[in-house]
Amino acid sequence: MSEKTILKALKGETQQVPPIWMMRQAGRYLPEYRATRAQAGDFLSLCYNPELAAEVTLQPIRRFGFDAAILFADILLLPQALGADLWFVTGEGPRLSTITSEADFTPMKGKDDIHEVLAPVYETVKILSRELPKETTLIGFAGAPWTVATYMIAGRGTPDQGPAHALREGNNALFEKIIDLLTVSTIEYLDMQIQAGAEVVKIFDSWAGSLKGEAFEKYAVEPTRRITSELKKRHPGIPVIGFPREAGDGYIGFHAKTGVDCVALDNSVTPEWGAANVQKDGCVQGNLASSHMVTGGQGLIDEVRHVRDAFSKGPHIFNLGHGITPDADPDNVSLMIETLRETR
Ligand code: CP3
Repeated sequence: MSEKTILKALKGETQQVPPIWMMRQAGRYLPEYRATRAQAGDFLSLCYNPELAAEVTLQPIRRFGFDAAILFADILLLPQALGADLWFVTGEGPRLSTITSEADFTPMKGKDDIHEVLAPVYETVKILSRELPKETTLIGFAGAPWTVATYMIAGRGTPDQGPAHALREGNNALFEKIIDLLTVSTIEYLDMQIQAGAEVVKIFDSWAGSLKGEAFEKYAVEPTRRITSELKKRHPGIPVIGFPREAGDGYIGFHAKTGVDCVALDNSVTPEWGAANVQKDGCVQGNLASSHMVTGGQGLIDEVRHVRDAFSKGPHIFNLGHGITPDADPDNVSLMIETLRETR
């Protein structure tokens, strides 16, 4: 059997047709997802139900034939396993108990005490590694410590990560304890996903863009570097994708500084900029704007070709710049894939 296309890209191979998957490919834009989610009850019940979580992971593979499947779970399951309360408010998003003082942090569990809560996630990975088509790569994931910390500190998503920045400046010792606990716990969490069958892991730093200068180096670069180097020690050759979303100039040198095999690009940079400044150092992933999955048409076709051609001289995994949105049309996803794979 020839090697899977995603793994080839992650090893630095340039391919005529780049492999493709899509962030949030299992999600509310798919009627079959909505049906399975209704069967599970709520979003967290779906995440912790291995059979149903595996089912929704497989749905976009069956429908579209993506080259990779991403484990269905959420970056906020880890804080829950560490002892935070977590719930989702329909139409609004996640809510967690907040951490604003030492007294909130002290009762948190340690890095080795997370696996009982997370066991269903590992079970989902095991089911998937049995059931996925042999050419499909299984991607595991976790949130990056900074991004997860922004939710744990504020107790919810925030437009500017204000509460996390305030703690970083006002009580840096406590802030660093949170980052450190998340870093070491993320290593154990991803290690278990790899043992269960994940072939690649991705670290989502969705809010990396709000860290500037030295803070970006300390709290975005350094945790991703620590996680990547320890995972590669334990699992030689395991490929890692980093996603320091909206990092701007922080994208430059991110491969070398962190040791990741691939850097995922969001839509704040053009494909030409990404090719010249980031792909020159290794594989990149991205970065079609998610809005094309809503608007479709010739605009979508033109932009798929544009992104493909801009990255055609180096290793590339085709993806969106961020997750697909619930108002997207599944037919536009099919059109994206057809256009990407058209013979030239
Ligand atoms: O990409 C995938 O298909 C895999 C599964 C996955 C989910 N969340 C499922 C999900 C992954 C990789 C994530 C990552 C995640 N979760 C991130 C990082 C990536 C990013 O989007 O920036 C973040 C910040 C979260 C936290 C989170 N989870 C938020 C803020 C929300 C609410 C916003 C929303 O879209 O509703 C979620 C919920 C969530 N996670 C959904 C899904 C499919 C929607 C839940 C539903 O079915 O109602």
